Amino acid sequence: MWSARETEWVRGAAPSAGRLRLDVHLRPGDLARGLRAEVAQGLGGRPRELSPKWFYDEEGSRLFDAITRLPEYYPTRAERSILAMQAGEIARLSGADTLVELGSGTSEKTRLLLDAFHARRQLVRFVPFDVCAGTLVTAARAVALRYPRLQVHGVVGDFERHLDRLPVAGRRMVAFLGGTIGNLKPSARRAFLTALASNLLPGDSLLLGTDLVKDRRRLLDAYDDAAGVTAAFNRNVLVRINRELGADFRPERFAHVVRFDEEESWIEMRLRAQERQVVRVPRLELLLTFDEAEEMRTEVSTKFHPEQVEAELHTAGFALRRFWTDAPGDFGLSLAVRGRR
Ligand code: SAH
Ligand code: AVI
Repeated sequence: MWSARETEWVRGAAPSAGRLRLDVHLRPGDLARGLRAEVAQGLGGRPRELSPKWFYDEEGSRLFDAITRLPEYYPTRAERSILAMQAGEIARLSGADTLVELGSGTSEKTRLLLDAFHARRQLVRFVPFDVCAGTLVTAARAVALRYPRLQVHGVVGDFERHLDRLPVAGRRMVAFLGGTIGNLKPSARRAFLTALASNLLPGDSLLLGTDLVKDRRRLLDAYDDAAGVTAAFNRNVLVRINRELGADFRPERFAHVVRFDEEESWIEMRLRAQERQVVRVPRLELLLTFDEAEEMRTEVSTKFHPEQVEAELHTAGFALRRFWTDAPGDFGLSLAVRGRR
């Protein structure tokens, strides 16, 4: 996750020293402890489940990036097309001088926002925030090189735990793109949005990407692509548990399973044991027995109706200013402002 070279760079050895800062609220040891707890409880208990945040080690982030280029995976292209049309308007309406990005990953689409803010001479600071330090540092460096006067303040943290550590500076717009909010279940989503609102000041805003309900076949295909990239992304969590906890999962013996839950309006990704198997997790002194066809859930990805997005924002203390979709109506982008209490 975190290499000495990157640390050196962050300390200012390289090109843009002074404008670059990195706050690390999750060190490799914290992540290791978190993964141990999650495997013990989430895989040791029933129903078996892991949080999707464990997908994103270096390889998981690389696989996610590959997913965004797949023909079946429409959300990235759809959201990018909205940003391409509306970035200038978003910069104007938000009036922000600080762009915070939660779950920033490669910040690839974010360039559209950065360009628009930059063109209006509005932007002072960019704050990418992610659980995956390696991806964050690479993205922060690329942004710093592209915008020579921008302050880039990276934060390695968990957006479900560390929102109180967001820098308080200037007028902020928090971008939470890609539909990542849909990876939180309703109670976690409520807690997240409420915590976010309470850590913002009146006038700060939220730019929220949400994937929308659509034809089931397209949804299923987006999470079960023909090239098998999403299947590899799903199984990579077992590879990570093997590496970090010394477990002996055989990922190829777990099938990638995708279904749409009509009641919850979410896509679920699961891993299904293709035969009975016993997995050792030495660092937890744990034996996990999977019966044939037994499943573990690794992700939910909620698909929203636009009215639901507005209602959830309102409940948390945000007032919706604009709601855009791409031309076919596949993806929604909301700009909301944190109201006065
Ligand atoms: N925003 C990008 C990336 C989305 S992938 C886009 O729209 O394409 C989800 C990103 O969120 C990954 O970079 C992952 O590392 C990060 N992430 C997932 N769970 C997180 C958590 N709990 N806290 C912080 N970052 C998280
Ligand atoms: C990051 N997140 C919004 C993606 C999604 O679509 O739920 C993660 C992903 N899972 C499988 N493919 C992509």
